[in-house]
Amino acid sequence: MPGPDRALRAALDISRVLGDSRVITDPDQLERFGGDESEEPPRVPDAAILPRTASEAARCLSIASEHGVPVTPRAGGTGKTGGAVPVEGGLVLACEKMNRIKEIDAGDLVAVVEPGVILADLHCAVEDQGLFYPPDPASLDSCCLGGNVAENAGGPRAFKYGVTGHYVLRLDVALPSGAILRCGHRPVKGVAGYDLAGLFTGSEGTLGLFTEITLRLIPRPRQVSTVLALFPGLADAGRGIQAVLAAGLVPRVLEIMDRECVDTVRDGGVPLPPGIEALVLTELDGSEAAVAGDLERAGETLTRAGAQDVLVATGTVERDRLWRARRELSEALRSRKAHKISDDVAVPRSRLVAVLERIESIGLAHGLVSATYGHAGDGNLHVTFLWDDPGLEAGAAAAREEVMRLALEMDGTVSGEHGIGSVNRRYLEMELGREAMALTRGLKKLLDPASILNPGKIL
Ligand code: LAC
Ligand code: ZN
Repeated sequence: MPGPDRALRAALDISRVLGDSRVITDPDQLERFGGDESEEPPRVPDAAILPRTASEAARCLSIASEHGVPVTPRAGGTGKTGGAVPVEGGLVLACEKMNRIKEIDAGDLVAVVEPGVILADLHCAVEDQGLFYPPDPASLDSCCLGGNVAENAGGPRAFKYGVTGHYVLRLDVALPSGAILRCGHRPVKGVAGYDLAGLFTGSEGTLGLFTEITLRLIPRPRQVSTVLALFPGLADAGRGIQAVLAAGLVPRVLEIMDRECVDTVRDGGVPLPPGIEALVLTELDGSEAAVAGDLERAGETLTRAGAQDVLVATGTVERDRLWRARRELSEALRSRKAHKISDDVAVPRSRLVAVLERIESIGLAHGLVSATYGHAGDGNLHVTFLWDDPGLEAGAAAAREEVMRLALEMDGTVSGEHGIGSVNRRYLEMELGREAMALTRGLKKLLDPASILNPGKIL
């Protein structure tokens, strides 16, 4: 591993290109570049560099390559698996100064952005023009498009609209050599050659650094309604989800929460009735007439499936309060006990109820508090275990392993949306197998021969 001296020499060379003010070496100022929102312990880099343009970013990479110094790309730093943590030190290449929305074209239905644009800013800008960019990871007020593409981020609205990758049309990517590669296409259709944009999407900063991102937009839905269905147990709520799917309804959101999560959301100021064991949160959008009809059918379907009560959240204030608490759930759960681990496995939708039943018993067997929530309509669950007693740590690690194995046994995946990063590395080969792992390593070697980009992640 190259030491700080080599990183500082690279930083010095980079400062000749960017100027001193955009190369940070002061330890106090470097602290904010060290961590993300995962369990990976923060590590302060040797230097942070803040390019403003694509060519500056590419030049920084080629200088880092000449010095053989690790570079960890950083966007909003809100990732859940350690993607932005510079685990081997070296340089953090932060894209906070590459934060322009370069274009919103209502005719072509595309937005062209730099990687440091905050997602909520893009949402506002396109919605002002009657357009819609659906992906909505919970951290939307602080996460950035560069990180969203790097992690192929999902979110509640993925049930109807899909994940970030479904909206990536074209990427400009700076490579360790200092070259900038353009891949993908601006038209909504394009099948020329391999899907290189697809390869970089979800590559977690290990293959290249995005310098420009072209995203697909759609027209903004005119009406949105939010429904909460209360169930006597978690598996019952899972059956409610399956009933909605079987009825052929396509809500934009179809989420689940167990009792611990409902209590946390209530403590966060959402006036939910007491004694709720599990909840299905669904949201319908479209034209006014379509939403009114679907709302009625969803209510009937959930009631027939065993919901004890179905509540409609009317009014923007009520919806906003509910969604704020939902988006803060991951962090709010952290403060309920001394320790927390959380995953994001995904299973085929038909296996949902079986998985929910097993998760509850895994938590109980290890003496842990279970808090399960997430995008159950996609089969994607945030399985969370909480505990106070430090003696339960080994049990929690075993419970996590059991959840990962359960997901794979059910023909699912170890990560539906948070990626592998450093935190989930030990589970990747369990899912991919030897051949796919070897191909993955080969691709990394081809694009980043000296392995300077985000070392210690994925592979
Ligand atoms: C969520 C994040 C944790 O759904 O993915 O809240
Ligand atoms: Zn999620």
